[in-house]
Amino acid sequence: MLQKLLSYLFPITIFEQKSTISKNLELTWTNGKLVLDSLNTNYSYGNLQRILRKGLKIIGFEKIKPMNNILVLGVAGGSVIRTLVDEIKYQGQITGVEIDQSIIDIANSYFKLDTISNLEIVIDDASNYVLKTNIKFDLIIIDVFEDAKMPDFLFEFFFVNRICFLLKPKGRILFNTMLLNNSDRQRNLQYVTHFNPKKYTVSTFNKIDKTNELILIERTT
Ligand SMILES: C[S@@+](CC[C@H](N)C(=O)[O-])C[C@H]1O[C@@H](n2cnc3c(N)ncnc32)[C@H](O)[C@@H]1O
Repeated sequence: MLQKLLSYLFPITIFEQKSTISKNLELTWTNGKLVLDSLNTNYSYGNLQRILRKGLKIIGFEKIKPMNNILVLGVAGGSVIRTLVDEIKYQGQITGVEIDQSIIDIANSYFKLDTISNLEIVIDDASNYVLKTNIKFDLIIIDVFEDAKMPDFLFEFFFVNRICFLLKPKGRILFNTMLLNNSDRQRNLQYVTHFNPKKYTVSTFNKIDKTNELILIERTT
């Protein structure tokens, strides 16, 4: 395809749409890859996919493959779902929760998310979904952004408490956070204190990318 080849010389934007959640959604061919960006940050298939892939690598692809149930909060173009399905060959159930139907329409049209047979997409606010569901998960991936901003509920006690309730014994949470300044650093330091060290092991990885810190929480019992 010509656009893909030319994108090795310069980025080519093929689609753009205003968004209330993400301000702007843009699909661009860059170095032979189609990436989805919001106004100020990469959403899917660029840095974001690399960051979450590193998180999955830290957990271990061989540990993820036999899992039964994975929850992805924040789907966008579905790049972490593609890593799970195409690279890890994960065949268990995936539930993807996304607040924005229009981004799922883009994911289906351009990244064929609707052809993944073990994926169920739920259009809902992640904070509502975790209160409503009683399904227990082996792995919960939290990747919720409104453009470059992280909603406050992600760090609130009710949400942390509920996420822990939805985790199976020995289950894991992989939380992608943006770390731009000292206040973000303090926020993340405060966040990890929510987890009782007798029940959870918490590790942070802040060299993953210039602006991101991954938090990995492992339930020990
Ligand atoms: C960085 S993107 C997710 C990228 C995706 N995990 C991937 O691997 O390609 C962040 C997503 O969070 C979604 N989002 C924002 N607020 C949300 C909320 N309250 N509940 C669910 N999704 C939300 C945005 O619409 C956006 O699609």
